[in-house]
Amino acid sequence: MSHTEDTGSRRDFLYFATASTAAVATGAAVWPLVNQMNPSADVQALASIDVPVDNVEPGTQLTVKWLGKPVFIRRRTQAEIDEARAVTMEELPDATSQNNNVALDKDASDQNRTLDDAGEWLVMVGVCTHLGCVPLGDGAGEFGGWFCPCHGSHYDTAGRIRKGPAPLNLLVPVAEFTSETIIKLG
Ligand code: FES
Repeated sequence: MSHTEDTGSRRDFLYFATASTAAVATGAAVWPLVNQMNPSADVQALASIDVPVDNVEPGTQLTVKWLGKPVFIRRRTQAEIDEARAVTMEELPDATSQNNNVALDKDASDQNRTLDDAGEWLVMVGVCTHLGCVPLGDGAGEFGGWFCPCHGSHYDTAGRIRKGPAPLNLLVPVAEFTSETIIKLG
């Protein structure tokens, strides 16, 4: 698809999301690339966007820009899911779900963090809850999830803070599957 064929800002964004999929985007490595594409202000202002995820393989993640922030969409492996589900709430500095799709009082169990019941899909705003850096992904850090090198915060495979100065789990934004291959953010 040629960029010049796109007619509107929404189409521009879909192209953008698809392009980042094709780049086999993982974690912070892709963020500079995505950032360079610099979508226009009206694209950033879209309250909700559809993200095609049919090219996201287990064990990889896609990073898209939404409302001016990176959003990680990870398709987890069974090992990542099992690891996340073996963790007890007592082990977590932040035992709240930090998930805008569930009730405020839900705990941070893995089932309260993922988009689907099986736990394969994890969607999170890619902004460290300490001072706002973009964490590295793809199994980074001591807990196999994400690592923020700015001051050393380690997040697990469910994006929950486990070690370091960040006080909260990575935020799960409003998101849902609107078809088998489309995740709607917002
Ligand atoms: S901003 Fe991530 S650890 Fe400080």
